[in-house]
Amino acid sequence: MTDCLGDGAGDMTPMDLYEKLTSQGDTVRTLKTEKAAKADIDAAVQLLLKLKVDYKQVTGQDYKTGCPPSECVVSQDNGPAADGEDMVDPWNVSTTNAKGVDYDKLIVRFGSSKIDQELVDRIERVSGQKAHRFLRRGIFFSHRSVMLVILICSHLVLDAYEKNKSFYLYTGRGPSSDALHMGHLIPFIFTKWLQDTFDIPLVIQLTDDEKYLWKDLSLEDCHRYTMENAKDIIACGFDINKTFIFSDLDYMGASPDFYRNVVKVQKHVTFNQVKGIFGFGDSDCIGKIAFPAIQAAPSFSSSFPQIFKGRKDVQCLIPCAIDQDPYFRMTRDVAPRIGYPKPALLHSTFFPALQGAQTKMSASDANSSIFLTDTPKQIKNKVNKHAFSGGKDTVEEHRKYGGNPDVDVSFMYLTFFLEDDEQLEKIRQDYASGALLTGELKKRLIETLQPLITSHQERRKQVTEETVKQFMTPRPLNYSF
Ligand code: TRP
Repeated sequence: MTDCLGDGAGDMTPMDLYEKLTSQGDTVRTLKTEKAAKADIDAAVQLLLKLKVDYKQVTGQDYKTGCPPSECVVSQDNGPAADGEDMVDPWNVSTTNAKGVDYDKLIVRFGSSKIDQELVDRIERVSGQKAHRFLRRGIFFSHRSVMLVILICSHLVLDAYEKNKSFYLYTGRGPSSDALHMGHLIPFIFTKWLQDTFDIPLVIQLTDDEKYLWKDLSLEDCHRYTMENAKDIIACGFDINKTFIFSDLDYMGASPDFYRNVVKVQKHVTFNQVKGIFGFGDSDCIGKIAFPAIQAAPSFSSSFPQIFKGRKDVQCLIPCAIDQDPYFRMTRDVAPRIGYPKPALLHSTFFPALQGAQTKMSASDANSSIFLTDTPKQIKNKVNKHAFSGGKDTVEEHRKYGGNPDVDVSFMYLTFFLEDDEQLEKIRQDYASGALLTGELKKRLIETLQPLITSHQERRKQVTEETVKQFMTPRPLNYSF
């Protein structure tokens, strides 16, 4: 027992201390319930208090049961949302505010960093290109360690030879149905831009296992959705020589190196930690409890020896929606303890439902979103009938007082999809002043979405089973590591 006292504490990592503290707490509880001798209980409590002092010294934080000293400790309030707060985790997103989730507050709560104008400027400088509209407009709004990636990029510019050894992209999707909606495209559109801009390898994880564990679906259905969703992802235009797409159900069994990394992560995360991060309870199936390790594994280059030739030090960058952050907080916490670099992250906001920004879209409610399979006519009807409007009730009032673009879903959709900054700003001003009516705003949106979706459908039609198979075959990519 002496090893956790006094001098030893200085050598212990925050995680060692956390684990000692948790087990010492258990010891104290057991002694108390077993009505042990007072002297024994007192000694155990003394040790517990001492550990708490050490913990505070090392981490700068108070010890909290179920909240390990990962980056999750950086934010005091990382557990379930308190009353009146926005709720954001991998399975739920909701808020009472019509403008949507308060993303600045979320940055504080999650302990991530804001993507500010200075960072956008740096990305432009290092890439030599105008930043993607998602960066210019705060749709990708938060990050972890992206400065590191920028440093790698600046280095690249100086040393073209190093190019192949820089970093790689990792993103994914949980295939829970055949039908993708526009919101699902956001991370993929942005990832494609990153791939084109930096010319780097990309891996895309399709978590059919996750959907089987969480939803009432058969394994066969989940795997079938994977193959269908892969077509939509490929239709976003990814380069077949630079992209590997995989189904967990297939790749886990096919790649010993991937599975070894899963096991490493599993050994270094306790049940207490996943309870703290994901809110798992005693009646959740054990598959859910083990799953976060599977989403973590692609963050490590050694999970893909066919691409990275066994290198375990290639830096990973993950573009994802902010609700996936809990998985990667856990991953970043584990990484150094198993000898790997921490992945960097770029977080996006949510694409609002047609009915308003209070929640993200649901694939199961046909009227809450625009699907990639919708016809031009369906798009027109959905926008006209269902898109929540920030306009006034009558034309007279609207002309007089103007509309509110901040809560208007048609305007929000235009910020995602209308490329021209000046046009967008003009629409915003005209709508706010009352010069532009709701019907006219909706018309602009319909005209923007229809060609986008039609051309997606055309590209998807070109994607054959053979193409899908090629993308999903473990193989070297066009880079020499
Ligand atoms: N869990 C994600 C979902 O349900 C899928 C996913 C796996 C993912 N790995 C990822 C998303 C990496 C973003 C980045 O959609």
